[in-house]
Amino acid sequence: MKKLILDLDMGVDDAMALAYALASPEVELIGITTVFGNVPCAQSVENCLAMLELLGHPEVPVVAGADRALAATAPYTTMVDVHGTNGLGGVALPEPTREAVGKSDAEGGAAVDFLLDAARTWGSDLIYVPTGPLTNLALAARRDAEALRAIGGIVFMGGALTIPGNVTPGAEANIANDPEAADAVLRSGVPVTMVGLDVTHQTILPFDELDCWRALGTPAGAAFADIVGYYFNFYLEHQGYLGGCALHDPLAVAIALDPTLAGTLDINLKVDLDGPFRGRTIGDPLRLHDPQKSAKVAVTVDAPRFVERFCERVRQALG
Ligand code: BDR
Ligand code: CA
Repeated sequence: MKKLILDLDMGVDDAMALAYALASPEVELIGITTVFGNVPCAQSVENCLAMLELLGHPEVPVVAGADRALAATAPYTTMVDVHGTNGLGGVALPEPTREAVGKSDAEGGAAVDFLLDAARTWGSDLIYVPTGPLTNLALAARRDAEALRAIGGIVFMGGALTIPGNVTPGAEANIANDPEAADAVLRSGVPVTMVGLDVTHQTILPFDELDCWRALGTPAGAAFADIVGYYFNFYLEHQGYLGGCALHDPLAVAIALDPTLAGTLDINLKVDLDGPFRGRTIGDPLRLHDPQKSAKVAVTVDAPRFVERFCERVRQALG
């Protein structure tokens, strides 16, 4: 069976991605690495530990990762409104009963070692899905890009190629949080698939799904209905034209496990690092003639098939 590592800045849609992964029979989740982004890295660690206990999987290791962007000189401390006061819609989960592996720091904590060890051990049987800033991956690429090339699939949620960003007109949140890291990854030549706003904004959670979760009568169902309810309302207020909340991070996991859900464009990407478009993912003009393309960008998605699978699997995870 394929092995999966999720790299999470544990906010609301990261939690949905985790639930989706845990209910996916085709992979075994062998670990979660953590990163700052929606919340500081230490909060991401706490949220991951609490979520795994809520979902009945306390055996999955949580490994502390990068606490700041590559260019930052101090740990990241922002709590992003869209994910609520604790990153989980303000919903307090029971205190986790165990600890993470390692401590977060500027060098990627223990997460970089964990990823590189897994890449060397599992090679093409490993799938790695970062759904936050690409800092841990960039730090791993600095250390051993060859090991990363052996991974079966690296599928990240982030960026926007054909539509505007969600933080600035050019930048999507995960890239905006560490443009240097994303640029280093995209220029490293390590093959990646980008699942950005181009497709995630086409996959919207049906609001009545929250009633189904609540009706399950389980602590996980009730907590998810509250957590995602907060996120859903934030979206209705701030991005009402979408008609609900986008399933960003779960879509990246789904495409990693089943690439037939998306149509992709082969391209060499870079990230704008200067000026008003800082954080934009865009084709690299210097590698336009390079016959080797290191990125696949999801530009179409079978949204009904994905949303149906999402609802089925997440109900199972929460049941
Ligand atoms: C991405 O940014 C974060 O807020 C979400 O968790 C998702 O990974 C969407 O732009
Ligand atoms: Ca995320």
